[in-house]
Amino acid sequence: MATGIMDRIARRGLSPFAYERLHDLKGELKAMWVHRRGVREARKRTWTPGVKLNIGCGPVITPGYVRVDFCPGVDVRVDLRRPLPIPDAIADVILCEHFLEHLRYPGQAHAFLKQCHRLLRPGGQLLLSVPDTRWPMECYVHGRTEWQDACKANKWHPQWVTTTMEHLNYHFRQQDDDRTDGHFECHRFAYDAETLEKVLRKAGFATVERRAFEPGLDAPHREIGSLFMGARK
Ligand SMILES: C[S@@+](CC[C@H](N)C(=O)[O-])C[C@H]1O[C@@H](n2cnc3c(N)ncnc32)[C@H](O)[C@@H]1O
Repeated sequence: MATGIMDRIARRGLSPFAYERLHDLKGELKAMWVHRRGVREARKRTWTPGVKLNIGCGPVITPGYVRVDFCPGVDVRVDLRRPLPIPDAIADVILCEHFLEHLRYPGQAHAFLKQCHRLLRPGGQLLLSVPDTRWPMECYVHGRTEWQDACKANKWHPQWVTTTMEHLNYHFRQQDDDRTDGHFECHRFAYDAETLEKVLRKAGFATVERRAFEPGLDAPHREIGSLFMGARK
């Protein structure tokens, strides 16, 4: 209640720019607080070599995986822009679906992939997927509608997004103007296979290969519209 009133006063009294920065600051302070608690809890865990991690898991349930995200209800609740409280070379597999595009590029993305490299044992695998940006761009240039049709059918974008250019902008930015769930939901960068391979190699991965959707591993709702990549330490 008190927060609601303060928010209304701030919205009325501040410029839109200042209000947005205040909103960001509130989000950042919450992230710091949640992260600190998550680090303390992660340090108390027994980390068994060979563990499988699902990093940036969101609400997706992956039996056999330790789930890591900022959202409530996961096993390790931390801010993934910061060093992870997980021992070196402990993981056999890291699954990371539709998370990397939420990080700033190149700095945060590089730091995160270096962390993944550190957590994996030699020979361990990072299995990534991100939104496939070649598909929407090809459709736009060639006047094809199948990507836009998939956006509508899968409800990837809100209802106000109707023109192709609105869909493209939303794909790139997933802007938070009309969101209440914070700036962690925004897209900060869009990938194609060449760029994803480049950042994975820069982070130290020895083998990087495009892979197909794997039923039983990748979340079913990620089958369409994703670029899948596998990297080995
Ligand atoms: C699009 S969802 C992907 C969830 C799930 N992997 C899937 O494929 O449905 C992106 C996830 O990244 C998480 N996320 C974004 N930025 C984060 C950050 N800095 N720290 C921790 N989690 C973050 C969000 O909480 C959200 O769960």
